[in-house]
Amino acid sequence: MKEAVGHDCAVVTRISVEGMGPSGIHVDEALQFVRMADDLVDLWDVNIGSIALWSHDSGTSRYFEEGYQLEWTGRIREATAKPIVGVGRLTSPDLMAKIVRSGVWDLIGSARPSIADPFLPQKIAEGRIDEIRECTGSNMCIMKVDGFGHLGCIQNATAGEEHRRGWHPERFDRAGNADKPALVVGAGPAGMECAITLGKRGFETVHLVESEPQIGGKLRWIRRLPTLGDWGAWWTGAPSSSTGSRTST
Ligand SMILES: Cc1cc2nc3c(=O)[nH]c(=O)nc-3n(C[C@H](O)[C@H](O)[C@H](O)COP(=O)(O)O)c2cc1C
Ligand code: SF4
Repeated sequence: MKEAVGHDCAVVTRISVEGMGPSGIHVDEALQFVRMADDLVDLWDVNIGSIALWSHDSGTSRYFEEGYQLEWTGRIREATAKPIVGVGRLTSPDLMAKIVRSGVWDLIGSARPSIADPFLPQKIAEGRIDEIRECTGSNMCIMKVDGFGHLGCIQNATAGEEHRRGWHPERFDRAGNADKPALVVGAGPAGMECAITLGKRGFETVHLVESEPQIGGKLRWIRRLPTLGDWGAWWTGAPSSSTGSRTST
């Protein structure tokens, strides 16, 4: 590839490195490979797991904390001065900045966090932190892709549907009947999202009604279950890791 593209185009390769599973390349072996191939690569894209061990790479919040891949991928700097991009449930702008400043990686990769919010980099750059739809690490996106062949996301109702919305799911036109009052029954996540969207469509009066004393639906209690605290990211505005060990089931 380098011979074909010369210096007109960057050559990037992804390599999985780890030491915790039966699959994947052990980090010490990976360091040797990086040293040998370093001249041929312009950017190293490092992760853990493998295509056969997707559950380590796209680890769920139930078992993996934000930045969990750093334990292994953070070692690649030992073998190269080339730029490095890494991944691993990175949703907090503060942690992203800390990693880049530390020099361990040069770029932050966000696969699921970008599904949850395609405008993540822009919102960080503009300081609109409160507007970020934070990835909860639920892995519903993967379940939907694997099971139904269609990407979806519990944080971003328009994920996989962007083509229907002019490729800009956060731009809303005023509805033709926006002068009429709207009633949304049920203030779970779907009802609340619906009410917000109606507001963005210019509806002058939106009634959101709920029979329970509090809004939030079943996610109000799901986020209190052991290891599922991060599912409350949408609720609290920040992930909670208060709900027990990630290794319990
Ligand atoms: C829907 C989906 C599709 C993915 N497809 C690929 C793929 O084709 N090749 C690949 O190397 N990684 C793929 N990944 C893994 C991501 O590139 C990334 O390594 C992983 O999700 C961890 O990063 P994250 O925590 O930022 O999501 C995919 C991830 C998701 C969620
Ligand atoms: S479904 Fe959405 S919130 Fe859940 S892991 Fe995928 S991108 Fe993140």
